[in-house]
Amino acid sequence: MGTRRRRVSVIYFISKLVKWDDLLMEIINNPTQVEIMKAAQALKEGHLVAFPTETVYGLGADAANEKAVSRVYSVKGRPTNHPLIVHISSINQLDKWAIDIQEYAINLAKDFWPGSMTLIVNRSELAKDFITGRQNFVGLRVPAQPMALTLLAEFEKYGGLGIAAPSANRFGAVSPTTASDVNEELQTFLTGDDLILDGGQCSVGLESTIIDCTGPVPIILRPGPISIEMISNSLNMVSVISNAKSNIRTSGSMESHYSPKAAVFTDVPPSPGDGFIAMYDIPTPSGAIRLASPTSIEEYAKDFYSALRLGDKKGLKVIIVIQPGGSGLAVAIRDRLSKAVSR
Ligand code: TXA
Ligand code: MG
Repeated sequence: MGTRRRRVSVIYFISKLVKWDDLLMEIINNPTQVEIMKAAQALKEGHLVAFPTETVYGLGADAANEKAVSRVYSVKGRPTNHPLIVHISSINQLDKWAIDIQEYAINLAKDFWPGSMTLIVNRSELAKDFITGRQNFVGLRVPAQPMALTLLAEFEKYGGLGIAAPSANRFGAVSPTTASDVNEELQTFLTGDDLILDGGQCSVGLESTIIDCTGPVPIILRPGPISIEMISNSLNMVSVISNAKSNIRTSGSMESHYSPKAAVFTDVPPSPGDGFIAMYDIPTPSGAIRLASPTSIEEYAKDFYSALRLGDKKGLKVIIVIQPGGSGLAVAIRDRLSKAVSR
């Protein structure tokens, strides 16, 4: 047998031994309780599990396992000084991860957890540098999505204390709101032992509100579904929206983030062939390609990221977005747009 033929038959033999499916992570549609339990076990063993929350999909790792957390950074392509949110199963876990918690932070947790709100608080010894980006503060959230809560509860049964999870997208890209978005973003970076839990489209569609609770007044670092009005009403206290007033660093507050491949511009007329996102009552200018026509601000938030992704799938070079006016979720949408726009 010639050398070349021998090489070909060796490659053929090896390819029969390798089960290619084992090299790809598995997507589990509508997982059963037993499948969620297995996902929790996989997390405890140090593998990654992408899971739905009501805001966006997260890429989960055991928050106490440095090796697992370092894989999150490499899969996302995220610089290691950008901290991760630790997801916990209930307010009862707050004391495990945090110390010297301001009273108003506890009140916020009581009012809005489970929900789309992340509190930045002083870290306990459990929150290591590899989670906090070497800052003395930790970000904590109890998500409201039932599958996420089941995963957290099962994870605790295996002795887990919290699931670190950034949005399950490559660094700087648009957050995923469906399991297939996660798959498209990360499939080449995940391995056969990792999992994606498919819980359908996220009901809110925008990332949580992040509140710096380390000082005497709450400072909103990233506007989100829990609005400034909701926070002020709940606390009977004025909260501030500002990055400048806080000495805490967040990657979402960087200038360029949440960006699709297409160039994004706001509130200008589209040229023929441009993508177009606006409320349903704004007609599509001639030649533009309509990507979303939400009928409410909730629908705008829910479909916003998938509309940007749709523009990329269609290979559009430019997407024009007519920004929603008003308060609440509209503030969060305008915030993301201010980071996504091309300069
Ligand atoms: O809705 C959400 O918040 C989603 C879901 C999965 O929970 N998560 C999410 O994570 O958006 P990520 O990592 O994509 O964005 C979280 C932001 C980042 O800008 C990060 O820098 C900031 O929160 N952050 C997390 N922990 C922090 C900490 N200890 N101090 C300051 N900023 C923190
Ligand atoms: Mg993110």
